[in-house]
Amino acid sequence: MSGSRVLGTGSALPRRVVTNAELAETVDTSDEWIVARTGIRQRHIASADETTSTLATAAARAALADAGVEASSIGLIVLATATPDNTFPATATKVQAALGCQGGVAFDVAAVCSGFLYALATADSLLRTGMAKRALVIGAETFSRILDWEDRTTCVLFGDGAGAVVLEAPSGEAGGKDAPGILGTKLHADGDQHDLLYVDGGPSTTQTVGHVRMRGPEVFRHAVVNLADVLKEVLEDNGLTPDELDWVVPHQANARILDATARKLGIAPEKVVVTVQDHANTSAASVPLALDVARKDGRIKAGDLVMLEAMGGGFTWGASLIRM
Ligand code: ACO
Repeated sequence: MSGSRVLGTGSALPRRVVTNAELAETVDTSDEWIVARTGIRQRHIASADETTSTLATAAARAALADAGVEASSIGLIVLATATPDNTFPATATKVQAALGCQGGVAFDVAAVCSGFLYALATADSLLRTGMAKRALVIGAETFSRILDWEDRTTCVLFGDGAGAVVLEAPSGEAGGKDAPGILGTKLHADGDQHDLLYVDGGPSTTQTVGHVRMRGPEVFRHAVVNLADVLKEVLEDNGLTPDELDWVVPHQANARILDATARKLGIAPEKVVVTVQDHANTSAASVPLALDVARKDGRIKAGDLVMLEAMGGGFTWGASLIRM
């Protein structure tokens, strides 16, 4: 059977742009170091009146407009975030209220940078069961609120933003790799790698929000291996080779991770959507944000074969193959 179909995409970014040069005024770093090691040139940082839910709501509204459907037709909202507005209730329920979607199901998913892949797989599975006809899948973050702004090894890497996708339940017709829809998803987790990337606080441990801590070079090495492996896994499951992909939309952590992963798989660099220079790493928001950018600028078109992939704290990682 065909998978859930992408009807529309949307994204939202905080108003304020912070360049590398601006960061270098308060942290011992430089534009040259950040660009050479990561490819990042700027990031958007949320102001006091911008939160994960306001960014998520703006991205969701843009996705609904792009899809040409009413908020009232959404029966399921799955929102991926590591920076919820409140510890509870789920930020998804705030988005539901802001959009005026009555009834239905709304909850958050926590898988950090791979959160959007986890949310997409969850929504696709629930739509296949008939739980709802349409879903909003959102990745939204205000990572700036959990950064240690005195730690130059982490604070230069992240930014804030949101991206959203409207998904429609499978039609029930026979699928095949040319039919629009999600063709396959693989998710993984390895809790043994907790200490390489985590937040040193939380309600049940320190009763504080905490700050991001990371052993960057080790994360880098795991990322290239895990992402290349999971991409291969999804391609093999679908009887495809890397050269049959039209686009790869990766999690935007570091331009060098994107280059190394594409090289490992023999994917042409021009097929990889790269937005890290403008947004930095927006965690769960980065894949839907990049997907929206590449659809709106005309690169990704209806009928294209697109691979989404991401890895994040946990570790968690995954990839999803979609016929647009
Ligand atoms: N400005 C200037 N110098 C810096 C900075 C900075 N912002 N940060 C670190 N340095 C210094 C270090 O102190 C070190 O100095 P030393 O040699 O005197 O000790 C030197 O630069 C090199 O540091 P490394 O950590 O070895 O640099 P590396 O080339 O590995 O780059 C980076 C670091 C960018 C963090 C890289 O390892 C990386 O991108 N890792 C992946 C992490 C990531 O993307 N995490 C996001 C979540 S997971 C995911 O999304 C996949």
